[in-house]
Amino acid sequence: MLLHLCTWAEVEARLEKSRGIIIPIGSTEQHGPNGLIGTDAICAEVFAKAVGEAADALVAPTIAVGMAQHHLGFSGSMTLRPSTLIAVIRDMVQSLRVHGFERFFFLNGHGGNVATVTAAFSEIYAEASLQPGLPNTPGLRCTLQNWYDAGAARQLSRELYGAQEGSHATPSEVSVTFHAYPEAIKQAVLDPPVAPSGRFTDAADYRRRFPDGRIGSNPGLASAADGKRIMDAVVPELASAYRAFVAAP
Ligand code: NI
Repeated sequence: MLLHLCTWAEVEARLEKSRGIIIPIGSTEQHGPNGLIGTDAICAEVFAKAVGEAADALVAPTIAVGMAQHHLGFSGSMTLRPSTLIAVIRDMVQSLRVHGFERFFFLNGHGGNVATVTAAFSEIYAEASLQPGLPNTPGLRCTLQNWYDAGAARQLSRELYGAQEGSHATPSEVSVTFHAYPEAIKQAVLDPPVAPSGRFTDAADYRRRFPDGRIGSNPGLASAADGKRIMDAVVPELASAYRAFVAAP
């Protein structure tokens, strides 16, 4: 159930049953010639909603802007600095903590968020540990689950796209967004069909190395039908990961 479609009384009642919550986190950044700017936020959001239904879990509002400084060479991309994103995550967790939530399952759609989200968890734990005269808060636990790292997601992307999955603007993630928003499906010429691979530093470096925005991928292979297959395969795995996380002592 989505938190923003609940009343406060419903949230209070749910807290009697479970102290867990899913927080979708994505990014708003270019995804090549046919991928939507919101790809990472959309994927995190639709997976979180489906997992919330499958596991009867509460789902917080999506953190739709992430750490994406390297994409700013392309129109429409937005970023939070790592320090800003850490502050956003910390304040969201602490707000929910006030009400009694203790297990925070971050469902992530963007590789560029991983280091910052992990650092935010360290900040949150440090804040609990550093309170003078107070015991640590043993119930508080945060975890990060990238949907694309689920075993079923890896297996299906290998099967459907092989090496053409690449690492940015992948056919898997583009397929999921085409399934979620068929009205926004784009057609574009991809030249070359498989984008170059490599590393990058800042936004100018990224644009120079990857002129159309993709890294190593061929999102021309994406389809709404594949997106449905990926969701159907991955949601049960993420739901059981969530259940195990909340149930762990
Ligand atoms: Ni992405």
